[in-house]
Parts: sequence; structure tokens; C-alpha cells
Amino acid sequence: MNFQLQHTDPKSKARAGLIITDHGQVETPIFMPVGTAGSVKAVHITELKNDIKAQIILGNTYHLYLRPGLEILRQAGGLHKFTSWDKPILTDSGGFQVFSLAENRKLTEEGALFQSHIDGSRHFFTPENVMDIQRIIGADIIMAFDECTPGTADYTYAKKSLELTERWLDRCITRFRETECPYGYSQTLFPIVQGCVYPDLRRRAAENVAAKEAEGNAIGGLAVGEPTEKMYEMIELVNEILPKDKPRYLMGVGTPANILEAIERGVDMFDCIIPTHNGRNGQIFTKNGIMNMRNERWKNDFSPLDENGTSFVDSLYSKAYLRHLFNTKEILGLQIASVHNLAFYLQLMREAREHIIAGDFSRWKNDTIENVMRRL
Ligand code: GUN
Repeated sequence: MNFQLQHTDPKSKARAGLIITDHGQVETPIFMPVGTAGSVKAVHITELKNDIKAQIILGNTYHLYLRPGLEILRQAGGLHKFTSWDKPILTDSGGFQVFSLAENRKLTEEGALFQSHIDGSRHFFTPENVMDIQRIIGADIIMAFDECTPGTADYTYAKKSLELTERWLDRCITRFRETECPYGYSQTLFPIVQGCVYPDLRRRAAENVAAKEAEGNAIGGLAVGEPTEKMYEMIELVNEILPKDKPRYLMGVGTPANILEAIERGVDMFDCIIPTHNGRNGQIFTKNGIMNMRNERWKNDFSPLDENGTSFVDSLYSKAYLRHLFNTKEILGLQIASVHNLAFYLQLMREAREHIIAGDFSRWKNDTIENVMRRL
């Protein structure tokens, strides 16, 4: 993998760049649609490529390891071939999902013991086998195995948790170096900065990660219960330390406002379930604000779903029709909402990139947040 920093906004920390992988290029800042179990829920690959114009998608080690399992993934020739998505993929390590989804999990120095949320079967993730699993899944970018410290953790817990993540990172790097991609292309490993909301821990974590000289770096343990202002403060602090010539990925964030604020602070890559998850609950993001499609208000509004939208669903369907689909629990409603919201997020990233290059990012960002986050 290679990263070219193409432009830095003179008035903020915002950057425009290009990530080059063996499965193609990614223009940053970028949003990565979440395809947890090998599918971006309710969205076809053709829609992702041609309409949403996604450049990279995300998969989850935890889910893919449980189902379909490694044997099937290996037989398929990896996740790209299995899903027919031939562009870049990033997989999260399971460090987050084990803690948020699995049952009876137990953390030891060696790794994380847990029971599957599907059938209760017992499994053990270690930094070593999580590297091996991500080799078999075959994503272009794979993540270190970490503990995602809750945003409400006290200092003592956060410090112990960070120290464990740091020891696990060294084990991940060793295993990653000893192994190779079974499918003949290259993979790269991103370490993750933890440290909760404590500036000295975040600083130390960022210095430790920076010293590994990875091809890209991630910021984790944010948007996990801490105040939003704390999150911005931590991003700012960490980005002062992480190398400028490598992409920075903020894990699991966020709303359009969160993403634009993080771009202004020097973040390049994002993933979040909000556009798809909230979309399936009837929440539609537009440049003029957020619509709840379950609302009576749209019952006889036959205007296009989104006059400013770039997706085919925005002009093809009306607000009243989508409201009807949600009202009657038709599956098509979930598809339309997911495609629309992802197209909106990707368009927002393209515009952010244009404004960074044009040199008026912060002014555009302030106006955009005010409009986009309004409730309609
Ligand atoms: N997704 C959102 N936050 C995190 C994190 O801190 N670690 C990992 N591995 N995944 C995440």
C-alpha cells in the first residue's frame, strides 16, 4: 500500500490524499461502507460501485470467522472473490466486536476468550490468530487486535487496557511479518491508538504507534460513551503525533458533523453503521437536514426523495412512496434508504475533498454541518 498526500488545507489540518492498493485507488477523505458479514446490508455490489461510488468497504473479522468461517473463505479465494467486490477492503480485527457482541468474554494476557453471539460456541482470539484469520479473509488493510477501552473507563483501567493493546500490537506485528497473503497480493497492517479520554495516555499511545512506522494508523476507542468535545480534543492531540505522510483512520465515526469535524482535524478515513443502520430505521440524510420517513409529514409529499441527491433512488422515488414502504415494512424501503444514505455520505466526502483542494474547507464545513444536522 502507498499513500500520497496531495493537498493540505492551509487554514486547517484537513488533507486530500490518495491510497494505492493492489485492488485499486482510494481518494481521501473517504467513507467506507460497513459490510460486516460480507455484505453491505441491503445493497448490491453494482449499486455500491456505480451509484454510491464506494471506493473501499469494510468487513469484520469476528463475523466472517464465525460465518462463513475460514475454510469457506479460503476455498473461495478470499473475501474479494467470495463477494465479487474487486476493489479495496479493510477488515476490523474483532477487538471491538468481541467486546460489544460476544457473550461471556474473558480477557487475558494471551487474548480474548468468548462465546459466539450466534450459537454460544467457545472461541479464543489472540493477536497471532487474528492476524492469521485476516490473512485468510484477504483484506487489503487489516487491523491490529486491540481492546476498545470504553469512553467511561477510569484512568487506572484505561492505562492497563492501553498497555495490553500495546503488547498485543507488538505480537500482531511479529506475526504479520512472519506470514503472507495467501492470494498473491499485498496486505498492510494498521495499528490502533487507544488511551480513552486521558491526554497523557493518548499521547503515549500515539507515540508508540507512530514508532512502528506502519503504512497507515488508526484512532480507536472514540464515540464509545465520551462527550463529543472530548472526542475532538483526543483526535486533535493524536493527529499532532501520528505521521503526516500516512493515512489516519478514525474507527466507527460517525454522524456527518462528526466526520467533517474530524476531517478538519486531519483524519482521512472513516467507517460507521449510521448511514445503513439508521437508514433501515427510516432516517434519511440530506443537505437540508434529516428526515424521519416514518413521520406522517411525508404521507402526501410526492416530491423527489432528495432533490440534491446523486443516487438514482433520489429522483426515481418520492418521499411519500418511501414513507409508505416504511409504514408497510416493505423490504424495498430498507434498500432505498441504505442506498440513499451511503450515496449521501460518499458525496459528502467528495465535496469535502473538493473544498480542501479549493482552500475553503472550514467555511464550507460550518455551513454544511448547520444544514445537514437540522431535523426536518
Ligand atoms: N471500531 C470502533 N472503535 C474501534 C476500536 O477502538 N477498535 C477496533 N478494533 N474497532 C473499532
